[in-house]
Formats: sequence, structure tokens, C-alpha cells
Amino acid sequence: MNIKIIRSVKELVEYRDTLKGKVGLVPTMGALHLGHMSLVDQAVKDNDYVIVSTFVNPTQFGAGEDFDSYPRTEKEDVALLEEHHATAVFIPKASDMYPEGYNSWVEVFDVTQKLEGACRPTHFKGVTTVVNKLFNLTRADNAYFGQKDAQQVAVIKKMVRDLNIHVNIVVMPIVREDSGLARSSRNTYLSADEKKAALILSKTIKLAESEWAKGEKDADVLKAKMIKNLETEPLASVDYVAINHWDDLEEIKTIEAPTLVSMAVRIGATRLIDNTILK
Ligand code: PAF
Repeated sequence: MNIKIIRSVKELVEYRDTLKGKVGLVPTMGALHLGHMSLVDQAVKDNDYVIVSTFVNPTQFGAGEDFDSYPRTEKEDVALLEEHHATAVFIPKASDMYPEGYNSWVEVFDVTQKLEGACRPTHFKGVTTVVNKLFNLTRADNAYFGQKDAQQVAVIKKMVRDLNIHVNIVVMPIVREDSGLARSSRNTYLSADEKKAALILSKTIKLAESEWAKGEKDADVLKAKMIKNLETEPLASVDYVAINHWDDLEEIKTIEAPTLVSMAVRIGATRLIDNTILK
């Protein structure tokens, strides 16, 4: 096995000190799929070393969310990362990332309070804290994130700007299954019927793109058309459909590029997100 498996913070610090050249970081929570692999592939192209973290970060899950049931597929993850030529995988224990007495947090305001943040009020504080720790530990030159979590991208870019962090953020497009379903570790929660029902998300994203291409510029009108379309699926229940400026996430009335069109929809018990950036 060529990939280096790093299981502690101390080991990662020691390993990082041996690296001479460009370092790419791909932060993930494991349960890797082709969406993650597009980040790894780009990182391998751009850097001399690629460190992938697969830490299921407890601080970004709220009470009653799916921390316990989140898929954990370490063996498959490591094999996939080796196949894609990542140089190291960081799989720390939660007690090592957050030892007893841990009490420091990185918090970005405003941009974190809407969309996902409105439904998951403590989520982004956990994300920015752990990502900041990963930046410090790896001292990465480049870090890779998927547009699938568009608000996360906006939040991390804001944190990097505000805190003068020396890292270049690279954003990769959403990777979809042939059916159109955006790839997500949480898709494994869906039954066969729910997976079919979940196609309403990508179909509604396509609808938004075609309405925009036909000249629809009124955000409220576009939103209403999207909600109507989502409501044709009996298994779907809409958390939100939103139209915001990309990338400060200000709400907008008139669509002028670049605009983020995003949604969160429950299919049965599973909450899925999808988005597009109208350019
Ligand atoms: O996108 C994710 O998987 C997580 O939010 C991240 C960035 C790895 C932080 O835990």
C-alpha cells in the first residue's frame, strides 16, 4: 500500500514537516463517492502531495441529526484514495481533534445564518472550526471543495478572506449520477422508491436553468415555479428554495449573474440539497 494512513494529529504534524513542495488538502467526511474523487483528481493534478481527511466531524451535526448513522466506509475510502493517487489520508479520532477541555471556535456570521444555517443553526460553526484546524495542520497551498455544498464554499471563502488564511480555495462542479441525482454520501439512506422521487431535485434545477435561459429574471416568479414543480412529487417536502447572489448570499429580487439557486428537500426522512449557479 502506497498511501500513508495518518491516525493522529501528532503524526500529521510530523508528516507535514517532511513535505517539500505543493500540498493539496481535500477535506471530506469519508463515505467517498465520485464527487469527492473529482476533488482528489484535481488536487493530484495541481499539487505534489494530496492529503485527504475523512473525519466525520461531530461538531457540525446538530442534536437529532445523523451523526451516529452517517456512513463510515474506511476500507473502501482508503482503497479508492489509493487508486486515485492521494498521498495521505488523515483519519483522526474525535477525541484527538477535540480533546477534553477543547473550547475554541471559529465562527463566520451573516452568511452562515441563512439557507442551511437557518435549518441547522450550529452547523457552520463546526465546519469552519474543523476546516480551520485542517488548514493549520496541513498548511495546504490549495484546498478543494465541491459546489454541491455551495453555502459551505461561500462560508469558507469568507473565513479565508476575513482571517487572512494562506490557502487557495478550489471549487469543483457538482458530480451527478446518470439519472441527474447529485452525488452525496447521504444518498445511501434512500430506498429505491425514494431514489426515484429524489430526481425531482435535479429536474427542478434543470427547470430553473431553462427558465433563466428563456429570460426569467424575477426571483420570486422563478422560486414559485420551482416550488410548484417540487410539490408534484408526493414523497418530497420542501425545506427551502432560495435565490441568492453568488457568493455573498444576499437575497436578490432580480436575477443578475452570478446567482445561486439552491434548495433543501426532504425525501422521506432524508434531507437532500442541490443547486446551480446561473452565470
Ligand atoms: O463537506 C464536508 O464533507 C464537511 O463539511 C467538511 C468540509 C469535510 C468539514 O467537516
